[in-house]
Amino acid sequence: MMKQRILTGDRPTGRLHLGHYVGSLETRVKLQHQYETFIMIADVQAMTTHFDNPGALREHIGEVMLDYLAVGIDPGVSTILLQSMIPEIAELTIFFSMFVTVSSLRHNPTTKQEIEEKGLKDLYYGFLGYPVSQAADITIFKAHWVPVGADQLPHIEQARRIARRFNDLYRPVLVEPQALLSPVTKLAGLDGRAKMSKSLDNCIYLSDPPETVTSKIKTAVTDPARIRRHDPGHPDICTVFGYHQAFNREEIEEISENCRTAGIGCSDCKRRLADKINALLDPIRERRDHYASRGREVREILAAGTGRARSVAVATMAEVREAMSLVSF
Ligand code: TRP
Repeated sequence: MMKQRILTGDRPTGRLHLGHYVGSLETRVKLQHQYETFIMIADVQAMTTHFDNPGALREHIGEVMLDYLAVGIDPGVSTILLQSMIPEIAELTIFFSMFVTVSSLRHNPTTKQEIEEKGLKDLYYGFLGYPVSQAADITIFKAHWVPVGADQLPHIEQARRIARRFNDLYRPVLVEPQALLSPVTKLAGLDGRAKMSKSLDNCIYLSDPPETVTSKIKTAVTDPARIRRHDPGHPDICTVFGYHQAFNREEIEEISENCRTAGIGCSDCKRRLADKINALLDPIRERRDHYASRGREVREILAAGTGRARSVAVATMAEVREAMSLVSF
């Protein structure tokens, strides 16, 4: 039987962090043998906020490639592709944009939150419409599943609706994709804010050296009511406990109990967490170093993946044009 296909992606706006890891990278690594996996470096989507300097994205593309290979994306089984090198995605985006309403885009909660977080004053057409382009990213490859964090769910829902509408309007060519949600979908930032995010500067990066991880965790906010060592803590509102839940599942019962009874202090709790995260990151750092010294090989992996992906996109666009009667004069 043919394997079902997964597609997922990231904007290349910098190095990837632990939020990406628990939100989707970990799932991709696990599923890559079970599903046919396509992973997109979404540089066109990144231009919705970085259009003034697209050249700067080049360096980030290299970093994201290293992060992918470092976490264990295996280029022998997974296809890594660069969005801007597949112009058929832009073509499909235009066709979709004919039947997507502006109000459905304005109501997308993730886009709304980004507008607020980034303080975007003028709403650009490309930014407002990026969920349409993301629907094209997914459907052009006929992906069945999209492993994502919770913040991406509105986009996947929008992609489903777009695929369904296309199939109803013309001919059933596209697959309606489904989200594959990771067990831990959202990691708080070190500052206790809801989301670990580069723009909020509250991240632990996959490429951070061990000392950096340890010192960043020392700064993480904890239960504000726990001021002295003997004050009982409230793990349910503690950022550090949230990290234990994500990275140290074996010990959470004990830590929770010891925090509530003041059996363990915040600095010991943080030290244990730092050790866990560093143990997780050690093999990742090692693989990153391996590929960092092989730039040419990394570029070839991306070029080969993009080539394979493009042939799928070209085949889908032939069907799309046929369904829309755009085949001859
Ligand atoms: N919007 C995603 C993010 O910000 C990136 C992305 C682009 C994506 N295209 C995709 C994710 C297609 C899943 C599928 O992280």
